[in-house]
Order: sequence, then C-alpha cells, then structure tokens
Amino acid sequence: MRRKVTVIGAGNVGANCALRIADRELADVVLVDIVEGVPQGKGLDLLQSGPVQGYDVLVTGANNYEPTANSDVVVITAGFPRKPGMSRDDLLMANYNIVKPASEQAARYSPDAILIVVSNPLDAMCWTAFKVSGFGKSRVVGMAGILDTARFRTFIARELEVSVENITAMVLGGHGDTMVPLVRLTNVSGIPLTELLDSATIARLVERTRNGGAEIVKLLKTGSAYYAPSAAAVEMVESILKDKKKVLPCSAYLDGEYGVHGVFVGVPVKLGAGGVEKIYEIGLTPEEQAQFGKSAASVQELIDVLNRPAA
Ligand code: NAI
Ligand code: 2OP
Repeated sequence: MRRKVTVIGAGNVGANCALRIADRELADVVLVDIVEGVPQGKGLDLLQSGPVQGYDVLVTGANNYEPTANSDVVVITAGFPRKPGMSRDDLLMANYNIVKPASEQAARYSPDAILIVVSNPLDAMCWTAFKVSGFGKSRVVGMAGILDTARFRTFIARELEVSVENITAMVLGGHGDTMVPLVRLTNVSGIPLTELLDSATIARLVERTRNGGAEIVKLLKTGSAYYAPSAAAVEMVESILKDKKKVLPCSAYLDGEYGVHGVFVGVPVKLGAGGVEKIYEIGLTPEEQAQFGKSAASVQELIDVLNRPAA
C-alpha cells in the first residue's frame, strides 16, 4: 500500500523535507502552503526530478487540505523563520496563528496521522498542535533534539578530526538557549568525550551548539537553517513509516516524566508506527536535572502566554 505524507509549509524546510522523502521513496507527498502556486510549482518540479533521480513517488501541491486526506504522517513547517537578532520565542504569537489552524485542518482530514511539528518556538508549537488536534500524546511529536544533537556531533567531530559517525551524543530540553547537551553521555566510539577534550573546549562546543541556530541565522540574514532541519524531520518520518523504533531525542508531551507535567520538552523517545511509543526516563545528575527543569519552565512560560484569554 502506498504511504502518504503531508508537509504543511512549502518554504525552505518544507520543500527540503519533500525532496528528502521523495529521494528515499518513503511516501507520496502533498505540499500545502497559503501562497498560491508555490506548493503546486515545487511539487511539479520535485515530481519531474523522479525520472532523473530514479524515484517513483507522487509529489503534489495544494492551497487547501482536501488532497491531504488520510495521510500517515503530517509534518508542520508552516510559519515564520527568525531573522538576525530574534529569538525563537519572538515568533510565538505569529506562528501560533499559523500552526493552530494548520493543525486543526490536518487533524480533520487525517484523523489517524502522526503529527511532526517543526515550526518555532518548537515546544510551544507542539503543545498548540496537541491541544487543537485532540490527538493522543503519542501522536504529536516535535523535531529539535535530532538537529541540536547533530550540531553537537558535528562540532565534536571537527574538533577531533574524526568521523562524525563515531560521535554519539544526546541533547535534551527545550529547543532554545536552555537546551541541555548531556556531555556525560557523549562518547566517541565508546570513549567518553571527557577523556578526549578538556573542559574548556567542551564548554566552547556546548555553547556553540546552544547558539547553533542563531549562528546560521546570522550568516543567512533572511531566514534560518533548513538542510539539517529537514534531514532531522525526515529521519523521524522514516522511523515512523518503517516502524524502525529508533531511539531519538524529540519533543514529547511529559506527563510526570522527569518531574514535568503537561509540557512538551526534548527527551529520548522510541519512535515507531505508533508515534512516541516510549519515553526513556534516564537518570540525570542534580545539575542536569536542574538545567532540564529550567528548560521545561521556559517552555511553560510560553504556554502560559498562549493560555491567556486573548491568545
Ligand atoms: P520559510 O519562510 O521558508 O517557509 C515557511 C512557509 O510557511 C512559507 O512558504 C509560508 O508561505 C508558509 N505558510 C505561512 N503561513 C501558512 C499557513 N497558514 N498555511 C500553510 N503554509 C503557511 O521558513 P522555513 O525556513 O521553512 O521555516 C519554517 C518554520 O520552521 C519556522 O517557524 C522556523 O523557525 C522553523 N524551524 C524549526 C526548526 C526546528 O529545529 N524545530 C529548524 C528550522 C526551522
Ligand atoms: C534552528 O535551530 C531555526 O530552530 C531553528 O536552526
């Protein structure tokens, strides 16, 4: 049976998600955007790449949700990216007004789908999609930790001049300045990172990871990163569609895990056909737990803003 993935938002992240999904023949793709012609044009262009690239999936574009009906996975990338000087949190209300109706429509047309949220501020947008879709907590999940971890792994590999494939790392917490790279669990082919780099160097790489998104925004000047973000989102799509049950850092709804209630934050999850099939509650040191709690509290502050009557 053919699988179907809807990507809402045919901008930089969305179009690259569609490209990666098609390239790997994971599913037929429907691109949805509010700008007339853009999803249709990008969809047609991607479809016409098939004969050259050797993929056989359908890629189409639309400005409404009928063609998205019965999608297996919906990836929400609609929304404004930040500009230099902006934090992800500065996008809160503008993107809430985009993600809310997009999630409602996605859920209406694909009641059995799994929603992967990408739009920023990520954890608050996951909460928005969760609330308005009415989906269970296992079927709404956010992309951030894979990207943040990929950045940390990249910086470590470049510092040590070793293959990035040998670096195992885990970045938890919200997708913002308070994210929590777990140095204690980071290793290079099993060798603890702390045996290979001094603490000042590790601190520098951690700081660069925390600012990884802003570093690219500063360089691009007109938007934010999209190649690594789309790669990360499609790793999640693949794990769900193929029921691979990969253990990945994703934003998930916490219902008491790590002492956090009713908030989406980045934690290690098992991602399979059922969506978030398990949240791994790993033991944290008191310092890590404090950082994690601070990160969850900063997400809660954004949710409080959305919960105010005017929102
Ligand atoms: P972009 O500006 O290239 O694309 C956004 C697209 O959304 C545009 O084509 C726009 O027309 C569309 N859009 C706006 N309102 C819409 C609506 N109501 N329905 C459907 N489409 C709508 O931005 P880009 O770079 O693709 O980023 C998208 C979002 O993803 C941003 O909020 C960005 O901050 C976020 N992001 C999150 C990452 C993460 O790690 N979670 C990583 C990278 C980006
Ligand atoms: C990033 O980290 C913009 O959140 C996005 O690149």
